[in-house]
Amino acid sequence: MPIVTSLTKMLGIRIPVVQGGMQWVGVPQLVAAVSNAGGLGVLTALTQPNPEALRVAIRETRKLTDKPFGVNITLLPSINPPDYAGYAKVAVEEGVRIFETAGNNPKKLVEYFKANGCKVIHKCTTIRHAKAGARMGVDALSIDGFECAGHPGEEDIGGLVLLARAASEIGIPYIASGGIANGRGLAAVLALGAVGANMGTRFMCTVESPIHQNIKEKIVASNEQDTVHIFRTLHNTARVYKNKISQEVVAIESRPGGAKFEDVRELVSGARGRKVYELGDPDYGIWTAGIGMGLIHDIPTCKDLLTTIERDAEEIIRGLGQMVVPERQAKL
Ligand SMILES: Cc1cc2nc3c(=O)[nH]c(=O)nc-3n(C[C@H](O)[C@H](O)[C@H](O)COP(=O)(O)O)c2cc1C
Repeated sequence: MPIVTSLTKMLGIRIPVVQGGMQWVGVPQLVAAVSNAGGLGVLTALTQPNPEALRVAIRETRKLTDKPFGVNITLLPSINPPDYAGYAKVAVEEGVRIFETAGNNPKKLVEYFKANGCKVIHKCTTIRHAKAGARMGVDALSIDGFECAGHPGEEDIGGLVLLARAASEIGIPYIASGGIANGRGLAAVLALGAVGANMGTRFMCTVESPIHQNIKEKIVASNEQDTVHIFRTLHNTARVYKNKISQEVVAIESRPGGAKFEDVRELVSGARGRKVYELGDPDYGIWTAGIGMGLIHDIPTCKDLLTTIERDAEEIIRGLGQMVVPERQAKL
């Protein structure tokens, strides 16, 4: 008996779980494994060096699954922005009809996707931005609480309050994101009015995730204490794994007079972060992880993970239903 929500109906998936875009991690083998297991896998466009490489990745994914999958386009603050429109065009040409947008104002992309009959899920971290996304005409929001890996915004509001506010104030469906890693989390966010859950860190630590085994084992050995916020003082906060490099960045930011991006540029370079996943050295650079690590104790296949999440969420939801009894049966 599957859990049916407006997300499962909108996307044509069995389990209301989305694997959020993840730089260097959201590649065909993981995306296809998530979609084959009944969730929604999402390819990360900017992991591909250019739009044509994204075309190849989409074709590769399609060879591995006949189930729906999406493409994430993350709009970064950048002096030389990537060719966002080019990535979007290629994905639409290749038949992708589900997009996750994140970061800076995605208005132009949303208009393009909607004109091409696509479903758009926009990721945001505040109720204000969620409302702006709804006005833009996106189909659903993905609301990232303070618990999340990556960019939680600057307002530090946890999912419990964000999601409950969304339930009464956002007129369109929303999925919950940040710190969700098991069936209990999925059941909890459904109770908070979400139509599904978005997970990042949990999917990094699966058999099909492309990162080095050492890093997966490091996640299993870590807990919710093992992340740190960098770029706080630059107003571009990012929750990353607490290692030598991220602690050095925080120390530089804490110096009297603060720090400029130039002061930490070399330490935080994306190329170094990518090497962490290739070499399996958790101290080589900055890598993204969320406090959901406290809930991750294994490295399952995506199939086993999603089957367990679905089963556990169903059991919890049924159990909660049993708490409600007729007045005459309630022994006070
Ligand atoms: C390794 C990693 C890389 C990520 N890269 C991106 C990205 O490029 N774009 C994006 O929108 N979100 C990115 N995220 C955020 C996830 O899509 C998701 O919102 C977040 O992981 C949810 O929090 P959780 O990790 O607690 O589940 C990344 C997360 C991780 C763990």
